[in-house]
Amino acid sequence: MSVQGLEYGYCQKYNKKIPLDENTECVHPHEYCRFRSSCLIHELGKQNRLRKRAAQAKAKKMGTLYGIGVGPGDPRMITLQAIDRLKSIETVFASKKSGVTESVAYSIVQKYLPDYAKVHFLEFKATYDREKFDAVWAENAKSVLEVLKTGQDCGYITLGDPSLYSTFSHLLRNLIKLAPEIRVEIIPGVSTVTAASNMLNVPLAIDGESLTFIPSAQIEETQLRPLIQLSDNLVFMKIPSDAQTLITNLEEEGLLHRAIWVQKCCLPGQRVMKELNKEVLEEEQEKYLSVLIVKKEGKK
Ligand SMILES: C[S@@+](CC[C@H](N)C(=O)[O-])C[C@H]1O[C@@H](n2cnc3c(N)ncnc32)[C@H](O)[C@@H]1O
Ligand code: SF4
Repeated sequence: MSVQGLEYGYCQKYNKKIPLDENTECVHPHEYCRFRSSCLIHELGKQNRLRKRAAQAKAKKMGTLYGIGVGPGDPRMITLQAIDRLKSIETVFASKKSGVTESVAYSIVQKYLPDYAKVHFLEFKATYDREKFDAVWAENAKSVLEVLKTGQDCGYITLGDPSLYSTFSHLLRNLIKLAPEIRVEIIPGVSTVTAASNMLNVPLAIDGESLTFIPSAQIEETQLRPLIQLSDNLVFMKIPSDAQTLITNLEEEGLLHRAIWVQKCCLPGQRVMKELNKEVLEEEQEKYLSVLIVKKEGKK
């Protein structure tokens, strides 16, 4: 940012060079200064204060958005903090893939919601076309903002933890573009990955071991092998229905038999498959709601 084409202003009272930007403030705004009337720094400081006050006033009128991690599926694996928030929330948003009739996140929290809670499903298409995906989340952000603007607090529920491959991040990114002043609080959740590894009694990583998360469906074929070779431990998520590339790469790296597949972790129909083989992975239909954990330790 520059003012009148200048990057810096000069404080004549204290002989200081001050950058001119959105945080500029007079060196001592509450002290008398004979240079004040012609001081660029003072003038910009005044404008900055007014802008920040206006943004704060706007934010005060708006409701808060709570990003709520609801854990992997078992309603007992939701945090007390999340339950407290859900019990008093007025409006809840959840994402739902188009064509899918139920939201797993909603089924987990349903019993904690007050009778008066309004529930809205934000539809999105499972596409890896970035532009289309972004356009959908820009629209979804508008719907959430409309409610926040009425002063209501809103919750956005998301499976596992909000910081790991969650649609909450797409919503938040778009909301901040529309209204940078929004207030947000994020409540962590038990990730499906840690739920699965703990259930199996298989640590994801210990001591100096490295760990890589691989969102399989979104990884280019050429990138897959280097990622597989990178770490001591691997967690595959978002497994595509056609998992042939994944299978071939694991097989060629001699890792397929070391993979443990947890399907619908903590949900009805949970399945664990150890010492995987090609045929099982190829035939299995329910691939999306599953994680694959591979530990290389002792491979050689
Ligand atoms: C959009 S990401 C959400 C991850 C989530 N935020 C977390 O912390 O686990 C969806 C991926 O999470 C994994 N996932 C989510 N719920 C699961 C479950 N109950 N059992 C197994 N994997 C699950 C799958 O790999 C799925 O493709
Ligand atoms: S008004 Fe503030 S910034 Fe400007 S000269 Fe005086 S003390 Fe320095």
